[in-house]
Amino acid sequence: MQSESLPIELKYWPIKRYMDIYRHSIDEMEEFWENEARKLEWFRTWDRVLDWDPPFAKWFPGGMLNASYLCVDRHLKNWRRNKVAIYWEGENGEERALSYSQLYREVNQLASALKKLGVKDGDRVALYLPMIPELPIAMLATARIGAIHTVIFSGFSSMALADRVNDTEAKVIITADGGYRRGKIIRLKEIVDEALKKTPSVEKVIVVKRTGHEINMQEGRDIWYHEIIRDAETEVPPLPIESTHPLYILYTSGTTGKPKGIVHSTGGYLVFIHSMYKWVFDIQEESVYWCTADVGWVTGHSSIVYAPLMHGASIVVYEGAPDYPKPDRWWEIIEKYKVTIFYTSPTAIRMFMKYGEEWPKKHDLSSLTILGSVGEPINPEAWLWYFKHIGGERCPIVDTWWQTETGGIMISPAPGIGLVPLKPGSATFPLPGIDADVVDEKGNPATPGVRGYLVIKKPWPGMLMTLYKDPERYKQTYWSRFPNMYYTGDYCMKDEEGYFWLLGRADEVLKIAGHRLGTTELESSVVSHPAIAEAAVIGKPHEIKGETIVVFAILREGYSPSDELKKELRGHLRKTVGPVATPEEIYFVSKLPKTRSGKIMRRVLKALASGKPVGDTTTLEDEASVEEIKRAYEEFKKIIK
Ligand code: WTA
Repeated sequence: MQSESLPIELKYWPIKRYMDIYRHSIDEMEEFWENEARKLEWFRTWDRVLDWDPPFAKWFPGGMLNASYLCVDRHLKNWRRNKVAIYWEGENGEERALSYSQLYREVNQLASALKKLGVKDGDRVALYLPMIPELPIAMLATARIGAIHTVIFSGFSSMALADRVNDTEAKVIITADGGYRRGKIIRLKEIVDEALKKTPSVEKVIVVKRTGHEINMQEGRDIWYHEIIRDAETEVPPLPIESTHPLYILYTSGTTGKPKGIVHSTGGYLVFIHSMYKWVFDIQEESVYWCTADVGWVTGHSSIVYAPLMHGASIVVYEGAPDYPKPDRWWEIIEKYKVTIFYTSPTAIRMFMKYGEEWPKKHDLSSLTILGSVGEPINPEAWLWYFKHIGGERCPIVDTWWQTETGGIMISPAPGIGLVPLKPGSATFPLPGIDADVVDEKGNPATPGVRGYLVIKKPWPGMLMTLYKDPERYKQTYWSRFPNMYYTGDYCMKDEEGYFWLLGRADEVLKIAGHRLGTTELESSVVSHPAIAEAAVIGKPHEIKGETIVVFAILREGYSPSDELKKELRGHLRKTVGPVATPEEIYFVSKLPKTRSGKIMRRVLKALASGKPVGDTTTLEDEASVEEIKRAYEEFKKIIK
């Protein structure tokens, strides 16, 4: 790990100057956030800044606003009405540009159509769409009428889709016939049809025609998007929404098999990301902002849709695979749209590093001013490659740490306020208003240079309100580990100068190419296969993807290990969870290492899969002592051979 500052001349601020602003924001937290809230346009001002009934926060209660108004209508009052809001590029080279006025019309038409279908304030609408403009349009249309959207990543299987739709009891699903990926059609409507067999709450399905292939349309239930839009009104007044009304529910993986429905508020969330994206990305009037995430993840919600559109930036939305048809597709897009702010994941950077710098070299990337990284720790080598070959040693890299639960960025350099000296691999410092710290097993501040747990000590406006229909689990998951602190589930270390170094997950959550998956969720999928009696899933370090999935499985009586069965299991995981869940390695074993209370000793499996020793310390997550772990390791090493 490098602890030297970057020896390159960017315009740095002394750390102290940043810290002074930061300290003030923490000491005067409510006043600080109130000033930030004034930067948005509200239909009614809040009664109070914060009602804090630990661990439940209500930000700006009494305030009324509307996300769709802030992202669209607000820009029609000035010249931005003719500015491009969305540059869309299809994988097959198709292009579409929507000005803010056009976006306004489309959002209103869909809002009108949804109203006609009976969707009301507080109803849930599920979105299962590829990366096409209709996805942000659908989010803004639901928000316009006070409905709550739940976007389900279009790489998820029909089972995952059905689970999420059922949990929210969505009335309407908006989907497409299909989407393109690596030149092939992904048949989304077929997946929806499969899910619909198990989703009784769904009354209507709106289908965008994207690929044009033959699909099943059920009379009375399925409606074409273009048809429903045709008869819709072009103006629907944005409904004033109470600040604490949910804007969306987004499912994410945790440490149990059941995904968690993260509920985000309207007011607090929007105030928070509005400020964060200004500070971190220094969004300007002429910014062309490209975040390569899928809108199906939180990164896409905040960094593609809500924050850049609130700032009136032009965003780029790209439908397809990063290296399709050739490894310079992304660099070509940056050159074509003169992207100024580029935000991606370490996995993507490592993949492009492997392809080599000759690919970005073919393109003029001089429009870039700031580069971002998110989703997993970025290793110094990837950081430096990104800095040199994409940013031309001119652009600061903002390594942004955050989570689905936090709503927006929490720890990151902030060139929009003042850039502190960068250290490749460190996300630097918490942003103003964020009281983050690293603590030891007992919840005391960790010693500098020693690994501990990342916690947040004060509420912040972007924080999740609760877990959908499960406030107890919300308390348990985030607020029970350490008294009065939000537990992130991440390992972290502060160095002597106070820089934060994120060191991966401390719990049973995996990050596969930046995608968040729970081990238990994957294990339930594996054991749902008839040949499997029991299974354990772990993450193994991977050069490009950060982590990959390794499965240890015990076969049922009557089945024997074979390559055929491994292939079948791979297919089973893809089908039940989605292609992101494809395992790299599968081992058939006769038993699993467990603690006395029956908990799987994942450290043993991890050590075996990566060929590394188990280590000498126990952590918060270990139930067993070092000796027990070591004994199990030795015993298990023999079995796995
Ligand atoms: C990890 C994604 C290191 C972390 C926005 C966190 C990171 C989880 C970083 C949340 C980063 C995210 N450096 N690790 N810059 N950003 N993570 O909910 O483990 O998909 O807890 O949100 O990603 O993943 P999620």
